Amino acid sequence: MTIIAIVSQKGGSGKTTLSVNLAAAAEAAGAVSLIIDTDPQATASQWGAWRSDKAPEVIDSAPPRIQSKVDAAKAQGATFIVIDTPPHADSAASRAVEVADLVLIPCRPSAFDLAAIKTTVSLVRLFGKPAYVVFTAGPPHAPRMYEEAVELVQGFGIEACPYILPDRAVYRHASAAGASVIEFEPEGKAAAEITALHLWTIAHVNMSTTAREGV
Ligand SMILES: Nc1ncnc2c1ncn2[C@@H]1O[C@H](COP(=O)(O)OP(=O)(O)OP(=O)(O)O)[C@@H](O)[C@H]1O
Ligand SMILES: [Mg+2]
Repeated sequence: MTIIAIVSQKGGSGKTTLSVNLAAAAEAAGAVSLIIDTDPQATASQWGAWRSDKAPEVIDSAPPRIQSKVDAAKAQGATFIVIDTPPHADSAASRAVEVADLVLIPCRPSAFDLAAIKTTVSLVRLFGKPAYVVFTAGPPHAPRMYEEAVELVQGFGIEACPYILPDRAVYRHASAAGASVIEFEPEGKAAAEITALHLWTIAHVNMSTTAREGV
């Protein structure tokens, strides 16, 4: 089972959008996928309700219950869990990082947003978990800008994910319809981008597990 925590203290950085679409990409790839919504704003849960509880399932959790919800999901056959967290340095983010195999930090590629990831980086470091910044909602074609953003995050002591989720209107349209971008526009660019990010996520987690086990 793979557990991904989506964490960023910055509001509106794309946590919920990444959470629901990554879980949907896993489901589309054959996983039994689950979203654990730890945000009192309950945005991911709202998305789940809009789609009449069509898979992936969304459940909510108070921070101290995350581990037991993960255990229960595992017993029920879940193979891919995404934990969405609220935009504050609170216990939900800490508990999510604690149980995760990999932490993704969505961040818009702007100076203010990049500066704000420092607190998130400190949190991740506290638990020694592998973590990557995922650039969200930026321009699709701006190689120089992304190069600078990568250098900046590396300066904070963290790596950037080689896959980005640039600004695509389909994210807003799909969410409003209670759909993932893969369901809403299967042949679209956003669907291809989130599929690539999901594959990278799986490959990365498998690689680090193998390395840890010394196989
Ligand atoms: N790649 C993207 N392309 C276009 N719009 C995006 C993208 N990612 C996020 N958005 C939009 O940005 C807004 C904020 O995204 P989202 O709700 O996922 O952020 P969040 O980090 O979960 O916010 P909060 O901190 O309040 O929980 C939403 O309207 C969403 O549709
Ligand atoms: Mg959110």
